[in-house]
Amino acid sequence: MKIMNQNLTILISLLLLMTIHACGGESSQKSDSEPVNEESGLTNFQLEHGIGPVTEEVELGEFDPQLAAEGEEVFKAKCTACHRPTERYIGPASGEILNRRSPTYVMNMIMNPDEMTREHPEGKKLLQEYMSPMPYQNVTVEQARAIVEYFRTIEMTDENVTNQ
Ligand code: HEC
Repeated sequence: MKIMNQNLTILISLLLLMTIHACGGESSQKSDSEPVNEESGLTNFQLEHGIGPVTEEVELGEFDPQLAAEGEEVFKAKCTACHRPTERYIGPASGEILNRRSPTYVMNMIMNPDEMTREHPEGKKLLQEYMSPMPYQNVTVEQARAIVEYFRTIEMTDENVTNQ
């Protein structure tokens, strides 16, 4: 009987935690006009470009070295604790990210990592693989865009990435 009670307490605590978590996260922005993917409950836009504040596809224009330099500054200050340009570290190597994600996806992951790793199939997979949550680093949309420009300078092929 005692054991059952303990289990119940744990269950209730877990449920409470989940509710608090759900309320705390930013709500996903689903466009009604788009079909919702049945398996994930996400729109096609969200599947390709991520869940977060960037709801229009960001097109990369001509490479902008000044913007890339700004992005590198932010990256050095806020991301190098967990990311290395060309090596897997606490998180994936930054240089390989644009090979598999759209610029918009990258910006949404930077701005909204919590929901991305909870709701997005690719984000969930990564969290399972790295087993360490990525925190939101108080990055503005402009800074996130600058980081994408910086990532363009270290874009690399999968073969070059050191996966220790
Ligand atoms: C405390 C460690 C930590 C910090 C700080 C951090 N990240 Fe991450 N990042 C991770 C981990 C770990 C993952 C893999 C997903 C997960 O486990 O949450 C990840 C995933 C990502 C991804 C998704 C990669 C993909 O292939 O989808 C991007 C993009 C990213 N991080 C960019 C950044 C940027 C830019 C910054 C700085 C503003 C940053 N991260 C700061 C740990 C961190």
